[in-house]
Amino acid sequence: MSIILGLETSCDETAAAVVKDGRIVLASELNSQTDIHAKFGGVVPEVAARYHLESVNEIIDLALTNSGVRPEDLDAVACTQGPGLIGTLLVGLSAAKAISWVFQKPLLAVDHLYAHICANYIDTDLAPPFICLLVSGGHTQTIHVKTHKDWEILGQTLDDAAGEAYDKVARLLGLGYPGGPMVDKMAQEGNPLAFKFPEGNVKGYDFSFSGLKTSVLRTVEKLPQPLPVNDLAASFQDAVNRVLFKKTVQAARELQVGKIVLAGGVAANKDLRRRFTELSGEGDISVFIPAMKYCTDNAAMVASCAYFAGVETSLDCMAYSRQSSGATL
Ligand code: KG4
Ligand code: ZN
Repeated sequence: MSIILGLETSCDETAAAVVKDGRIVLASELNSQTDIHAKFGGVVPEVAARYHLESVNEIIDLALTNSGVRPEDLDAVACTQGPGLIGTLLVGLSAAKAISWVFQKPLLAVDHLYAHICANYIDTDLAPPFICLLVSGGHTQTIHVKTHKDWEILGQTLDDAAGEAYDKVARLLGLGYPGGPMVDKMAQEGNPLAFKFPEGNVKGYDFSFSGLKTSVLRTVEKLPQPLPVNDLAASFQDAVNRVLFKKTVQAARELQVGKIVLAGGVAANKDLRRRFTELSGEGDISVFIPAMKYCTDNAAMVASCAYFAGVETSLDCMAYSRQSSGATL
């Protein structure tokens, strides 16, 4: 049995979790700074780092107390080492280092993107091989995860990440920050066929969302006020999700991999979840989607990642960073 304390501070969530054997969450606590950054229209790195500093000890205490695990009984401490904001990462890394040193526990520094993928191991029996669609605020990738140690990035965005496109279009529609959840909400009341936006079809498994974003901008410029925000949101969302779905399924079929896994903040999108859930009902491909709270940034995925990449396989968890050219500390 292995019990790991995970910390996540790569952006604007201060999170700590205690996870057993990579799959069972004993406690997962989170302090979101969304309201603080909303008035700036996006995350202010220096402000974020200072709030992490204020709440990190409290969140760690809460996670340990709620899990019923004493720090001396932990098997390891894990934290996010990147990619992310340097000042915020340092807060989590320093806290993890201190706990690791005081209680003489191994320190496992994990890659944030790899951790998003590992959110799918929570409460499931999932094991590689699978095709992962990783859609976050900074990344959009289709990955063939062959084993815990071996994966191949099949395709990625040539410009904006899917989450970034959601955030930019949300701003354009006056929906504020964070954009993705607001577009998701508005789109539920809108008609996806109201506007015809380009899918951004590039070759192979790659993606491109900048043309789509410009197309929404040009359309908005020509429309009278008030804007039909719901229809615009629904049509934009349909264009993004259509191509994400199509290319992921294409990869699974062409490589004859029977499992598709969604990861990252955009995996919280209701329309995207519906598309893949419906596919799963068809039989030949099974689909794994993390619970909503484990799609966006959280620490349970960090502890799970440390287990599967670090403890289970004795693998250096930073390997994914080197492959995906993510920042390292
Ligand atoms: O994975 P994440 O929490 O942080 C990063 O590692 O980037 O992803 C954040 C991104 C943001 O761009 C946010 O707008 C998007 O995920 N997002 C959504 C939804 N919830 C979060 N996008 C579409 N629909 C949602 N429901
Ligand atoms: Zn993330």
